[in-house]
Formats: sequence, C-alpha cells, structure tokens
Amino acid sequence: MTDTKVTGGTTLLTKPTIVQTQPPPQSQSQLQPQPQRVIYEKANFSLAPRYKVVSLLGKGSYGTVCSAIDLKSKDETSIAIKKVSNIFNKDVLLKRAIRELKLLAFFKGHKNIINLIDLDLVYLKPYDGLYCIQELVDYDLAKVIHSSVQFSEFHIQSFLYQILCGLKYIHSADVIHRDLKPGNILVTSQGVLKICDFGLARGISNQFINKNHRSSNITNYVATRWYRAPELILARRNYGKEIDMWAIGCIFGELYGRKPLFIGEDQVHQINEICKILGTPQRSLIFSYGSTTAWEYFAPPKPQFAKQDWSKLYPHASNLAHDLLDRLICWNLETRLTVDQCIEHKFLKKVRNLEDEPIVGKTFDFSFEWKYSSVNDMKLLLREEVENFKKERNKSYPL
Ligand SMILES: Nc1ncnc2c1ncn2[C@@H]1O[C@H](COP(=O)(O)OP(=O)(O)OP(=O)(O)O)[C@@H](O)[C@H]1O
Ligand SMILES: [Mg+2]
Repeated sequence: MTDTKVTGGTTLLTKPTIVQTQPPPQSQSQLQPQPQRVIYEKANFSLAPRYKVVSLLGKGSYGTVCSAIDLKSKDETSIAIKKVSNIFNKDVLLKRAIRELKLLAFFKGHKNIINLIDLDLVYLKPYDGLYCIQELVDYDLAKVIHSSVQFSEFHIQSFLYQILCGLKYIHSADVIHRDLKPGNILVTSQGVLKICDFGLARGISNQFINKNHRSSNITNYVATRWYRAPELILARRNYGKEIDMWAIGCIFGELYGRKPLFIGEDQVHQINEICKILGTPQRSLIFSYGSTTAWEYFAPPKPQFAKQDWSKLYPHASNLAHDLLDRLICWNLETRLTVDQCIEHKFLKKVRNLEDEPIVGKTFDFSFEWKYSSVNDMKLLLREEVENFKKERNKSYPL
C-alpha cells in the first residue's frame, strides 16, 4: 500500500511564527496569562507549541487536516489535527462542530472509530476554529480503493466486517452517521479500518426528540450524493439507520468494482443510475415511500429498466457477496439488512470475532440540537464540551 500513503501530504515549508493568543470572549482566562501559540500560515493553523505541523493532508468541505508531531509525548507520536473552520460565523457550522466533538467523545475507545486525543478552541482570526487532535491513520479507503493494491475476497471481508463493527457501535447508541463513504473511513498500515467525520451524524432516539421544535427534523442535509439512499432523494421524510446500510452496500460494491457504483451528476441522474442497476421499482414500492415526488418521478412514460445481476457487474465476487449486495442495495427499506443482520451474513463468517462487536449500552442524548438555539448559548456549550473533554482526558491520561 506504499503508493497510497496519505501521511505524505503537502509539506508546510513556511516557518511557523510564535505569538500570544487572544483570550476567548467572556472567559475567566482573560485574567490569566495566555499561553504561547505557534502559527502555521499555510494551513491557517494556530497550535500549542507542543504540536508541530508536518504536512497538509487534505482540505474537506468543513475543515483542514494536517499531520503533526506531539513533541511532548514520549516517542514524539505522530497525530492528525482536523481544524473545523468558520464555526463562529455560521450557526449551522457551530452546531456541526458541537455534534462532531460530542459524538467523537461519546464513541471514543472503539477500535473501528477514530480516536479523539485532545481538543483546542481558537478565537483569533483567521486561525479560529475547533481543533480536533486525533490519532494519525496512514490511508483513507478512497485512496486504497483507487490504488493498484490487489484485494482478495478475504481483504474485502475483513474491510467490510470492520466497518460494520464500527457502525454496530454507532447504531447501538441510536445514532446514524449519514455520510459513510470511502473518504470517511481511514485505514492503518496494519489493515485496521476506522470510521471518521461525524459532522453529519445525528441521534435518532425518540427519547430525545422534541416534537415542537423544527430543528429536530433531520431531513435537511447534504451528504455525498453517490452514497445517498434513494429514499433520501425521493422521500425527504424522517429516515433512519437504513440510509447507512445503503451506503455500506455502495462501499462494498466499490471494493469489487474499484469505482463508485452510482455516479450521479445530480439528484435525478443519481436515481437514474440506481434504476439502471436495480431496475425500475414496482409502483407499490414507490407508493410505500409516501411521497408525491417519488410518485411523480416514476410516472409513465419513464424508461423502464430491468434489474441487472450482480454476477454480471462483479464476476469475480462470490455468490455470497452477490447475495449480500442484493440485500443491502435494495429499494425496499423494510427488507434492507440491519447492521446486525449484515454481520450475521454467511459472507462474513470467516472473519467474525464476537469480541469485536461491542455495543455502547446507552443512547446518545442529542437534545442540545434544540435546547440551545442562540449562537451565544451554542458558543458557551462548545467551550464547556471542550473543557469537559479535557478534564476527563486528564483524569485518565494526563497531557
Ligand atoms: N485522523 C486522520 N488521519 C489521517 N488522515 C485523516 C484523518 N482524519 C481525516 N483525514 C484525511 O482528511 C480527509 C478529510 O477529513 P474529514 O472527512 O474528517 O473532514 P471533512 O472536512 O468533513 O471532509 P469531507 O467534507 O470531504 O468529508 C479524510 O478523507 C482523510 O483523507
Ligand atoms: Mg469527510
């Protein structure tokens, strides 16, 4: 896998500058001396001196990720730092940052979920943002899939199983990830897979839904189109864990085909691409989506597509893999496999290990989504969450 290493990145050649930080607004720390910061202009990063940036790994839609070294750790450990930007300008982004940090903290400890090590909040522009210090992982699955590395069926079983173990943990807390795709799954050089990027994830437990509050409605969001389940595009009603299972099916197919399964250029094209492989759905099934958009979309005279055989698409995959694809990538949400059913499928029998399948044991409380509506309240919540995380962390592993 040497040609796919993501840790290579762009080297940040500019010399860092050392500055004093601006204290956070309304903070007690205004009374205390401010620690020194190191500025990395090229990445717009402001860091505590213990962290030294090595390279720029990537710019996603919400943040910049750099690899760095923790100079204070015993072996100068390599780490990744994701800066979530613009959080103080836009309340949606502020909420997204709170969500990401709350969920990373909640799921911390599972080996198939990225490990959050430390957090930092910076208020000084243009370096302002939430800095999430995470374990550094060598590759992401998109790079591995689009490399020349050959996969045996055993590799694919192991990859799929590990993603499912991470997802089982997430779903067991009544959380949906909503943006599963190869770029959001990291791969270590030892072949361990870790789900990352919880920016779009949401709790769905009825226990925490406030029916009077509009923001508890989780229909409006923009996840990566190619992995988007058809019910999301067509029905736009409240949806559940099935959308993650659809994405898992798409990733599973991509592991064989080495290219995304449904490459839609827009929503309509996306549905068309799905129809070309799954066949046009029955009218009764479209009716079950309960949406006029869906009904109208499939109104005659639309071209009718026949279902294709997975064995034609992926001739090198086994019959069991074809069967599993059928049960994940299907129009009907009622019959789409749940994460537990998927783990139980015979395709994964060889790689299963019950010890790798823990559950969280409590549901994720997402009432902050509607309890805190003003920007100021959310800013205070973010600071409190960062401080709590640091406190907990220092108890178990002092920095
Ligand atoms: N801990 C890490 N170790 C190594 N690389 C990482 C790590 N976290 C993220 N990356 C790399 O940075 C990319 C972007 O990270 P992430 O998905 O968390 O950010 P994002 O801004 O939400 O991205 P996007 O909107 O593109 O999904 C990942 O696809 C991966 O290649
Ligand atoms: Mg991402």
